[in-house]
Amino acid sequence: MKISERPLIATAAIQERIHELAAQIDKDYKGKHPVLLITLSGAFFFAADLARQLHETVQIEFIRAQSYSGTQPGPTVRITSAPEASMTNRHVILIEDIVDTGRTATAIIKHLQTQRPASIAVCALLDKPSRRAANSTPDYVGFTIENHFVVGFGLDYDGLYRQLPAIYVMT
Ligand code: IMP
Repeated sequence: MKISERPLIATAAIQERIHELAAQIDKDYKGKHPVLLITLSGAFFFAADLARQLHETVQIEFIRAQSYSGTQPGPTVRITSAPEASMTNRHVILIEDIVDTGRTATAIIKHLQTQRPASIAVCALLDKPSRRAANSTPDYVGFTIENHFVVGFGLDYDGLYRQLPAIYVMT
């Protein structure tokens, strides 16, 4: 496996789109002081850039989830690290690197709902709707992509390539 010579999504395009997403979130969450709940590890570059483009005051929290393809028919998602801060009555924006099957977002939302937040929205840098298994559509999407395996801007292949400043296709 190697990465494409040219990026699928260039750095400038990513930054421009993040600027637009931040403007939309500022408008939608004016005065609400939302929690940016960042899914580790893939969403950290996206979240860091997005957060710094926001004018609204936000609280930054982290959550870690892992998928397993065990003996179950479909992969299950386990929350391996939950935020210590309470999400009760808070407006939570879950920041994801990519929504692929949608199972991770669905599992995190289910986990959060036990704390009765005021609202939950999902903001994903990338959306890969062709592989959707769970009924989960992100509320804010940077880019919708075809069924490629992509790396860079936080996304990895076997732990590698997260640091690339643009998004590349693995071929
Ligand atoms: P889900 O299938 O929506 O639950 O996505 C689970 C996780 O798989 C994402 O948060 C990513 O970390 C990872 N993932 C899905 N598609 C890709 C990809 O194209 N490149 C790198 N990671 C991916």
